[in-house]
Amino acid sequence: MQIIRSVKKMQKLARELSRRKTIGLVPTMGYLHEGHLSLIKKAKAQSDIVVVSIFVNPLQFGPKEDLTKYPRDEKGDIARIKKAGGDIVFIPRREELYDSEFQTYVEVENITETLEGESRPGHFRGVTTVVAKLFNIVRPDLAVFGQKDYQQAAVIKRMVKDLDFPIKIVVAPTVREKSGLAMSSRNKYFTPEQKKEAVCLYVALVMAKNMVRKERIRDTSKLTAEMKRVIGEICPTAEIDYIAFTDFDRLRPVKSVDKNTICSMAVRVHGVRLIDNMMMR
Ligand code: PAF
Repeated sequence: MQIIRSVKKMQKLARELSRRKTIGLVPTMGYLHEGHLSLIKKAKAQSDIVVVSIFVNPLQFGPKEDLTKYPRDEKGDIARIKKAGGDIVFIPRREELYDSEFQTYVEVENITETLEGESRPGHFRGVTTVVAKLFNIVRPDLAVFGQKDYQQAAVIKRMVKDLDFPIKIVVAPTVREKSGLAMSSRNKYFTPEQKKEAVCLYVALVMAKNMVRKERIRDTSKLTAEMKRVIGEICPTAEIDYIAFTDFDRLRPVKSVDKNTICSMAVRVHGVRLIDNMMMR
């Protein structure tokens, strides 16, 4: 397995490799968990060479977000990537990706204006800018993203289509802990007791899905009210940022659940902002 830190070197190698091999890219911000490893395995199954990038992208963090304390474990990540079957780890330097004159951004419009986009202004502009740069550097045939960040995957799909990147976007299912809590690098902030409360997102989503399936309740305001109640029961100090029922492709809010409805939510649990989502049927 190769470790590459220079943009030029990565670009040169990618140009050579892409003549004979297919390249799969898994972009990450490091501190890898089982969820990331499942993305690497998915990329491995569909491409000859798997490149995993590790870069904590400052552009996608707001001024009050956890950029400086975002967890890092480069040595452990490299070992995990090797074990999962990665071929190249690309760890670009911040100054090389964003030099002091940097002034070009990639921005997707409408679907970045709701949910995460509304709560975290500028976040998706940071994501699409860095992902577009990674696409230009690594020249992948496919790139794999997780369903947990499903709005991110939808935004990237839109960018790929709008800007004609010849790249297939693969979305891999959310990997969960035994309790149902979606895997996230931010879970490491919790004590074991707090982690038990962090399961409130998953419990609320499953409950809403059951209400739709078994009780045939479709009204999203009723479902939202029940979800809020159950979150409050499990984690009385939780702060709900949003619970949104939208159509899957365009992320427009819906009043009544149908087969294309996804429920997304962001909740702050003991100071840690968690997101999760689930198709409702
Ligand atoms: O999902 C993430 O970890 C990041 O948003 C990504 C795609 C690596 C871009 O920085």
